[in-house]
Amino acid sequence: MSSAQIGVFGLGTMGSALALNLAETGMTVAVTNREAPWIDTLLDRAGALSDNLQGHARLADFVAALERPRLILFMIPSGGPLDAALDQIVPMLAPGDTVIDGGNADFHDTRRRAQALRSRDLHFVGLGISGGEEGARHGPSMMVGGSAESWERLRPILQAVAARYRGDPCVDHLGPDGAGHFVKTVHNGIEYSEMQVIAEVYGLMRNGLGLSPPDIGAVFGDWNAGRLHAYLVGITADILKTRDPQTGHPMVDVIKDAAGQKGTGRWTVIEALRMGQSASMIEAAVAARSWSAEKETRQIAEHALGGARQALGISVATLEEAVRAARILGYAQGFRILSAAAAAYDWPLDSARIAEIWRAGCIIRSALLDDIAEAFRGSPPEGELILAPAIAKELALCIPALREVLAAAVGGGHAVPALSAGLAWYDTMRQGQGPAGLVQAQRDYFGRHGFVRLGQEGTHHGPWWHDS
Ligand code: 6PG
Repeated sequence: MSSAQIGVFGLGTMGSALALNLAETGMTVAVTNREAPWIDTLLDRAGALSDNLQGHARLADFVAALERPRLILFMIPSGGPLDAALDQIVPMLAPGDTVIDGGNADFHDTRRRAQALRSRDLHFVGLGISGGEEGARHGPSMMVGGSAESWERLRPILQAVAARYRGDPCVDHLGPDGAGHFVKTVHNGIEYSEMQVIAEVYGLMRNGLGLSPPDIGAVFGDWNAGRLHAYLVGITADILKTRDPQTGHPMVDVIKDAAGQKGTGRWTVIEALRMGQSASMIEAAVAARSWSAEKETRQIAEHALGGARQALGISVATLEEAVRAARILGYAQGFRILSAAAAAYDWPLDSARIAEIWRAGCIIRSALLDDIAEAFRGSPPEGELILAPAIAKELALCIPALREVLAAAVGGGHAVPALSAGLAWYDTMRQGQGPAGLVQAQRDYFGRHGFVRLGQEGTHHGPWWHDS
């Protein structure tokens, strides 16, 4: 009997949470998993929602249970495991069916898969999902890439399960094939930048102001109640106030200072560079995670090179202003990559709408995103966030604090890679005349690469090249 409106393949943390969220809307959800016992685990914990869940251990039964045209949501790792599952399931599907990848996929793979499935008259949707387990269960932010037809079918379902910001569902169709996964990748890049800025400022308070983790947690708590209101600021406050049940020490002190990364931050940087762009704060955040992982080398270097850091004469209020500036710069860099991708891949990415669907449900949700959405709605010059009048005004107010923090931090030997990268970009962009003319001259001098001469057409060479 074909009676389920959607199927979920993959019942790990995110897949199970999303299946329960879908079931809660009243629709019937078929579920399956490669390891069959996981199906019963989900049905057992579903309680009353199990009435809306159909577990199928056999793939053929799972496919047969779905209303046609079918909607199948894959919640499994997006690399090899997804390709293997697609090889198995695609022969069982019929023209018009839609396969959705809800994982953090490399958008190049999504484009490849979409093309392969299109040749069989199947739709492939790359669905970026953010919000962790809690979001998946009660309302994630979702970024959809796929055909208009598949979006029409998915729209009511995804709108029903999405997070809402003042009633507006945090989900939208952003473009074809890889657009949704690309936007999710950049979301994660911004997430890296935000987390690094927070970590650097935590480090300054800890090592430069001598505050304890619970004291710093209280500062982040205050910030979260004010203009810096953001999910990541709020969880930082919680984390820093938490003590280790085993030792009684602050929890943050018993965690090895070596940050992990699964790849989306790195992909953001790679794609930005490929398009001739640079999101320097995201690069700095990726680099900082990589350097953090070199724990042993850092320990040796601390002895060899000296690890002294000076106390800082800056106030917590100045740090708050600096974080305001840095967060705007991080978002601005992320949105520049989205604009570059819109042009490179001919995607109709709408920066304002993307900011809107990030206002709730996702990891980077924050009050600032509402201001950013409004700024983009006003069509800023060159599409640049930092040129939107309200944002430029805000930056004018808080950049001096970022400058003060950086001057003190750099002078005192504190590492602040993301904060410095943000200010360097801002200072570069606000100069109509920079030093790159010299770089062009050097290129021409050693390699006859030529340069554009001001006020003259064509390619020119310097007098260092004398044609004989
Ligand atoms: C989200 C998160 C989620 C995941 C990160 C972690 O939006 O819900 O971004 O996708 O937690 O990808 O990435 P790293 O392991 O690279 O930090």
